[in-house]
Amino acid sequence: MLPKKLAKAIHWKPEFSVGIPHIDDEHKELIGLIQALETLAGAADHETLERILSTLSEYTKRHFLSEETMMKKMEYPKLIEHRNQHRAFIHKVSEFEVQFQSNKAAELSDEILKYLWTWLTTHILVHDKAYEAFRKERNIRAPIF
Ligand SMILES: [Fe+2]
Ligand SMILES: [Fe+2]
Repeated sequence: MLPKKLAKAIHWKPEFSVGIPHIDDEHKELIGLIQALETLAGAADHETLERILSTLSEYTKRHFLSEETMMKKMEYPKLIEHRNQHRAFIHKVSEFEVQFQSNKAAELSDEILKYLWTWLTTHILVHDKAYEAFRKERNIRAPIF
């Protein structure tokens, strides 16, 4: 189990909002999946956790594609840098997934949960908010998905 403080911290907060409802919804979904992993780690069977981890991995890819398409449309100058961050995270999540799937005795460690949560929230607060600041600065209409 995670240190109580971190377990308690895993939930959506208004400060995570980037101001685009579609993107906020996707972030909420991702946070919900990390929350589910945290709640069920050590309680659910290995297969259930594998399934949630794989849903998280698939959903992450979908979300990143939404953002990358949007950044491309608004000609965001830091698209490549942002995409590289996404790619590194996808790689890391697949690594966790493969390791977890290949060892049925493995536990979903606090380190993994902490990594997922810290990466996602830092990325939202710093990098996702940066494309939104750019959009507002250039007065680009909020994308319609
Ligand atoms: Fe995002
Ligand atoms: Fe992003």
